[in-house]
Amino acid sequence: TFVVTDNCINCKYTDCVAVCPVDAFFEGPNFLAIDPAICIDCALCVPECPADAIIQDTHISPDQAAFLALNEELAQQWPNITELKPAPADADEWNGVADKIGLLKY
Ligand code: SF4
Ligand code: F3S
Repeated sequence: TFVVTDNCINCKYTDCVAVCPVDAFFEGPNFLAIDPAICIDCALCVPECPADAIIQDTHISPDQAAFLALNEELAQQWPNITELKPAPADADEWNGVADKIGLLKY
């Protein structure tokens, strides 16, 4: 499966959802999660993300490992998102800010 990681937080550009052939994305207040039971590992979403936030689970770095369980859990709680929508007005200011996990809203 592919995993949405820290840099999506407060960026949430949603370019990823427009290309996912199986609608594997779920939307929270300031982050998206991929349901690992739905993702077919096509990798199409990876280059679409302006924040480079999507990583394959087998390549995830130790500091991002918490996002494996977070994607799985949050995808169960949040509604499906299948279409591009406007990013937050301050998305570009948050792109590249490290360690945003404490800002993740549920
Ligand atoms: Fe969807 Fe493919 Fe990305 Fe998985 S890797 S979330 S199937 S676009
Ligand atoms: Fe997040 Fe990147 Fe998608 S910022 S919403 S994973 S395009």
